[in-house]
Amino acid sequence: AVQRTLSIVKPDAVGKNVIGRIYSRFEDNGLRVVAAKMLHLSEDVAGGFYAEHRERPFFADLVGFMTSGPVMVQVLEGEDAIAKNRELMGATNPKEADAGTIRADFAESIDANAVHGSDSESSAAREIAYFFASSEVFSRA
Ligand code: CMP
Repeated sequence: AVQRTLSIVKPDAVGKNVIGRIYSRFEDNGLRVVAAKMLHLSEDVAGGFYAEHRERPFFADLVGFMTSGPVMVQVLEGEDAIAKNRELMGATNPKEADAGTIRADFAESIDANAVHGSDSESSAAREIAYFFASSEVFSRA
């Protein structure tokens, strides 16, 4: 089924000037950017986005990293977009990511891991609504 998923190009990848190379991975693999904005997240916005991780030991470092510089936030649309995007990203820890994935090619560490992608339909719906009004999403479907 055609799905939408929320994707973030994180501060490490924006800093390395590889937004376009990451977007090409999406476009070359059947995903379409149907919404996008560059933002410098505040602690409140980053903390709210990652609210499910609030009790995890890495939460403070995660919020610190995600607020360290601008990010690109986008909605990707396509057939099985949620799983497809996770396949393109590779494992959360770049050291475990398969060769040829975005994290294997562009990421350094589990915090500076280049990209985020929604992990389920329910988180995709929540995460898209967190950053975009429906009038800001230009669906092709
Ligand atoms: P992301 O997909 O954005 O979701 C939560 C982020 O927390 C994750 O990518 C990692 O960058 C970061 N993180 C740091 N440590 C861990 C960990 N031990 N397990 C999972 N995620 C972690």
